[in-house]
Amino acid sequence: TFGQFGDEVGLNVYVVGGFVRDLLMDNPSFDIDLVVERDGLKFAEHAAEKLKATLVKHDKFLTASLFFNGRRVDVATARIEYYEAPTELPQVEISTIRKDLYRRDFTINAMAIKLNHKDFGLLLDFFGGQEDIQNKKIRCLHTLSFIEDPTRILRAVRFEVRFDFTIEEETERLMREAIHQGYLEKVSGQRIRQEFEKIVQEIKAVKAIKRLAEFDAIKRTFPGTFYTATMEEKLRALFDFLPWAEKHFGQVDRFYSVMFVLLEYHNEQLLNEIKERYGLSLKFLQQLKLLKKMIIPLSQMIKLRMNFSDIYKVTHDISPEGFCYIASYLEPDDQEYLKQFLERVSTVKLTISGKDLIDKFGLKPSKKLGEILESIYCAKLDGLIDDSNELEYVKSL
Ligand code: CTP
Repeated sequence: TFGQFGDEVGLNVYVVGGFVRDLLMDNPSFDIDLVVERDGLKFAEHAAEKLKATLVKHDKFLTASLFFNGRRVDVATARIEYYEAPTELPQVEISTIRKDLYRRDFTINAMAIKLNHKDFGLLLDFFGGQEDIQNKKIRCLHTLSFIEDPTRILRAVRFEVRFDFTIEEETERLMREAIHQGYLEKVSGQRIRQEFEKIVQEIKAVKAIKRLAEFDAIKRTFPGTFYTATMEEKLRALFDFLPWAEKHFGQVDRFYSVMFVLLEYHNEQLLNEIKERYGLSLKFLQQLKLLKKMIIPLSQMIKLRMNFSDIYKVTHDISPEGFCYIASYLEPDDQEYLKQFLERVSTVKLTISGKDLIDKFGLKPSKKLGEILESIYCAKLDGLIDDSNELEYVKSL
């Protein structure tokens, strides 16, 4: 259909990048990136109308995004260089899409498939992307690739680990050179953070972080972070716990939960620099400060299987990401105990309210009421009482 829309407005349309790569690798892919020659905006407007899609345009960049049926399609423009116009038209076309592809990160991401009716399905692979998929190689397109866009250093590792490929030798050399020349520090924190957020979503995230550390890319991006065997163990434990936590809490910010592990030993000054660079939230810094003091005693309490109520009393203010950080200190069976605790905290509810205490027991509104309610709640957490004997318990207090 996109090819047809292209034909209707007389523009050439290609699907490019990750979609083509995933198609050739037999992986399902959801995002579609289109490149349209000359005028992506005109194409996007037409397609949006036909599909009744929501259109978001970025006129400055000649790009647009279409949203429909829960899908997203990004449209970019490949501009024809006019000095080439006098040559034969098909040649101009090829050089235009070729240039667009040449600006991309790796050969496996630099292929296109034409969608117009004429030539539908034609694969354009100028730089050996298919061969690199065959040989499982991540290869950049030119020597300045990592200098022009240092976030590609993180991307190379992400794709290498995700697909079980290897970074090709010369590419690795260029990567190391860019890293040691300080190019990671030259990119905005926001762009690094974006790539890092994608890494922590990967199935083999820990492997990717380890690999980045081998490239010295971790201490370059988060100054003061030294990747050690202990840190790796904590990351492993954290990522073992995350899927459960995501189900339990509905949502966990993986990026922040990893930040706890990477930044736990940082001093105030380094922490502040990193906060500024990556726009870390104040709430995270407060949690980190709190947990730095509590992590050892708290993990000890869990290992000793102390009562849920004792744990509850000191974990009131801890965020879901904070609990994941605590889990990074725990062995599997201790993590199980933490899960039971969190399960219990979220299911135990009081049937009695402060108003009941006033109405039924003639108590006066005061701070004491809150304390009584909490002690009932704690007794319930520990399984000492249940809904049926809350009232009796109050009388016994
Ligand atoms: N790209 C690039 N350099 C970057 C980012 C992106 O060349 N720093 C190009 C690549 O051709 C890539 C495409 O833009 O394939 C789309 O980028 P993105 O959506 O970030 O990645 P995908 O390849 O689609 O990977 P994923 O499967 O993780 O979405």
